[in-house]
Amino acid sequence: MGQSLEWGRRYLMVRPDHFRIDYVINPYMSTHDQPDPELALKQWDSLRQAIVDANGEVEVLPQRPDSPDMVYAMNLGFAAADGRAMLSHMRFEPRRKESLTAGDWFVGHGFTLGRPGSDGVGPHFESGDAFVFGDSLVVGYGPRTEADALKHLATEWNIRVRGLRIAHEGMYHLDLPFCPVDNTHAMVYPPAFDAASQTALFDLVPDPIVLTDDEAFAFSGNSIVVNETIIMPACSPRLHDVLTGLGLRVVVLDLTEFHKAGGSARCLTNPLDFPLDSITTPGGEVILPA
Ligand code: ARG
Repeated sequence: MGQSLEWGRRYLMVRPDHFRIDYVINPYMSTHDQPDPELALKQWDSLRQAIVDANGEVEVLPQRPDSPDMVYAMNLGFAAADGRAMLSHMRFEPRRKESLTAGDWFVGHGFTLGRPGSDGVGPHFESGDAFVFGDSLVVGYGPRTEADALKHLATEWNIRVRGLRIAHEGMYHLDLPFCPVDNTHAMVYPPAFDAASQTALFDLVPDPIVLTDDEAFAFSGNSIVVNETIIMPACSPRLHDVLTGLGLRVVVLDLTEFHKAGGSARCLTNPLDFPLDSITTPGGEVILPA
């Protein structure tokens, strides 16, 4: 069994005060199937409470009235424990105003802000595509993040970045088919990636926990690990056995209102404590699958 993750104890969440479906940018969304605001707030608060119960910390940011997807805080920016943050440059215009508030929040909380682009100029980067794992920052690219953003991250921060090309319309962010569990285990859903990236994924993860179609589309890969607790929107009996076998306490929450716009536990939470020290390399390096 691997060692616990070094990160995932401190999060930013956005309270769903204006969560609606105004536009469609992924296959889950339909303007004819709106979330129930009261139930959404209740589900969101159960997630916040579960993190606190697992001895994690949560910072709460109010939602902009003009940004219905802002509840998916994971995409606001990538934040490191040493105080560096890379603001997202959203692929779709309706989400770009979120960056105004997110940028102010990061700066106001002592982060030094980088940005790969803004207002449609420069490469798109959505932080739901980025995780520290092993010797690198693993970044999914294709549907949202563009390959040029990986270069930006590597050179601006002098870090090793490994790209995985996402090739599945239902898996538009890396945080849907990839979930670090400890320093050797990760839940993975290989069909989300092209052939070369599937090979790279298995090279990257010493102990992969391969999700079935049903598990992946129930958002099990969109779970979060807080100390020795894994908080999940769904967990099959066999996944439960695997995870408890690793010494984790499994907490399953109903987050279905948020599935309506295509996100779950991970998407609703932005880790603020990713370690960059072990992935630092002079000049930076980008490794793309063949
Ligand atoms: N409706 C949002 C979008 O498509 C969902 C974001 C899900 N967030 C995530 N980190 N995968 O942008």
